Amino acid sequence: MKILVTGGAGFIGSNFVHYVYRERPDWQITVYDKLTYAGNKANIAGLDASRVAFVQADICDEKAINQAVADCDAVVHFAAETHNDNSLHEAWPFVNTNLIGTYQILEAVRLNKKRLHHISTDEVYGDLELDDPAKFTPETPYNPSSPYSSTKAGSDLLVRAWGRSFGVQATISNCSNNYGPYQHVEKFIPRQVTEILEGRKPKLYGSGQNVRDWIYTEDHSSGVLTILEKGKIGETYLIGAEGEKNNKEVVEMILELMGKDPADYDHVNDRPGHDLRYAIDASKLKSELGWQPKYTDFRQGLTDTIEWYKQNTDWWKPQKAETEAKYKELGR
Ligand code: NAD
Ligand code: TYD
Repeated sequence: MKILVTGGAGFIGSNFVHYVYRERPDWQITVYDKLTYAGNKANIAGLDASRVAFVQADICDEKAINQAVADCDAVVHFAAETHNDNSLHEAWPFVNTNLIGTYQILEAVRLNKKRLHHISTDEVYGDLELDDPAKFTPETPYNPSSPYSSTKAGSDLLVRAWGRSFGVQATISNCSNNYGPYQHVEKFIPRQVTEILEGRKPKLYGSGQNVRDWIYTEDHSSGVLTILEKGKIGETYLIGAEGEKNNKEVVEMILELMGKDPADYDHVNDRPGHDLRYAIDASKLKSELGWQPKYTDFRQGLTDTIEWYKQNTDWWKPQKAETEAKYKELGR
């Protein structure tokens, strides 16, 4: 089996590459990544070059993506612009990569008759009330809020249309918020951990009542591999690990685990259009494909993640000043 992993030098893509490298020792992996500000070749360093190849290219580059797709058995498509705050500041890279890039991948898998697994997010469903007993299911209507989530929603719809109209052999997964090693410091958990490591206070948007459904990234990887191998063509699966926590609880837990006063954080300006709550019902993936998350102890996962950022300052330091300068401009 030879897989092409788009966005494989980013956070979740690189964790997936490491996971497949360990779990499927006879597979060949080609990472296809543009190396935007969010991509880093160091995320996949140390893997045997006879098993893992790297192509630096844009998924919007028709010729390059077509050539790479022709040369593999299946495509796992992670590449995207992924940060909501950036999408509120400058939406074009999101429209370009998430919509046009996914279109180019669909054309390439259609022409070359290859299997595709498309990675998406629970944010396509919009948000839930805090007391809503319902969670997102594959039947929940799409109702995205931001340029990020709307372009991801659009990419999912393109995948479904290419499946129905052209017989493209595709599956889709929509996962909840990931955390773990190699996550860019612009995202919530690594930002707070590295703020504390640099001697500053965590920054909580608004009241901190917003709920995210956290999953350790390795559980996302195992979900994707399960769907790639056993998923039914044309189906959408939701991946989540029952990890609902509000942002205030998470900030307080980070402070406590890092030996600080849990109340020692700053309230900063809220994000415009800030989604209130996400929650995933992953029962279809569990009952139909037998998947189960392994890392369901959030406190332990957070402890391990904090330790990773402590041990890998060389990895995150080069991103940090630029990221905080961007936040300063946004007033957050
Ligand atoms: P990330 O921002 O860390 O990584 C994105 C990667 O894609 C980077 O390596 C970047 O260089 C690459 N990339 C961006 N534009 C490209 C282009 N035009 N051509 C080629 N490569 C390009 O993102 P992530 O958090 O690892 O997310 C990966 C995928 O998972 C995305 O599709 C995202 O929507 C989805 N997802 C993320 C989360 C989350 O919590 N982060 C949750 C659910 C789903
Ligand atoms: P984020 O990691 O950007 O993921 P998403 O917007 O895709 O859920 O943010 C997670 C939550 O944390 C979200 O409710 C916004 C909030 N947040 C903060 O409170 N402070 C911060 O510094 C950041 C980056 C996010």
